[in-house]
Amino acid sequence: MIDLKAAIRTIPDYPKPGVMFRDVTTLIGDPRAFRIAIDQMVQPWAGAKIDQVAGTEARGFILGGAVAHQLSVGFVPVRKKGKLPWRTLSEEYELEYGTDTIEIHSDAVREGDRVLLVDDLIATGGTAEASIKLLQRAGATVVGATFIIDLPELGGAKRIEALGVPVSSLVSYE
Ligand code: PRP
Ligand code: HPA
Repeated sequence: MIDLKAAIRTIPDYPKPGVMFRDVTTLIGDPRAFRIAIDQMVQPWAGAKIDQVAGTEARGFILGGAVAHQLSVGFVPVRKKGKLPWRTLSEEYELEYGTDTIEIHSDAVREGDRVLLVDDLIATGGTAEASIKLLQRAGATVVGATFIIDLPELGGAKRIEALGVPVSSLVSYE
């Protein structure tokens, strides 16, 4: 059995002193680790009748595209403000310092679509919560959220489950 944690690079003091940055570029650059990670991300949701996968910019695009392909469904990009060309819905969320805004096309999902949210990592859960709110405002039912990495000390997975959206992840770092 492959050790996914061993395929993730940890970079101390990036982007600032004291932060241990979990870098999934090494995992997605390893063909075995990439395939196994995608298979494991999909597995809990295989019977969940997913209509669409949504992925959050930027690493959620890489993983979400592969998950969507595996499930034979379409992909909805959740993008940083100002990047999408058509009419959008926007949601602001808190960062450590200040705020950011993410967007989806207002017609990206159909009413009642069952959507699985995908990203590389959940920390505070702010990005995932804003993504879920956007998808729900567009008419989707968000049936779950799946990540490679959970940082449980930051409480993101609990925050998302408190919204009624189940969370799965493959590895965690205390
Ligand atoms: C990272 C990560 C998640 C988010 C998790 O993205 O890929 O999307 O942070 O943090 P949270 O749970 O505290 O919201 P980042 O904001 O670095 O954007 P990027 O992928 O565009 O670099
Ligand atoms: N890696 C990638 N994205 C992140 C991290 C990390 O360690 N922490 C918060 N967002």
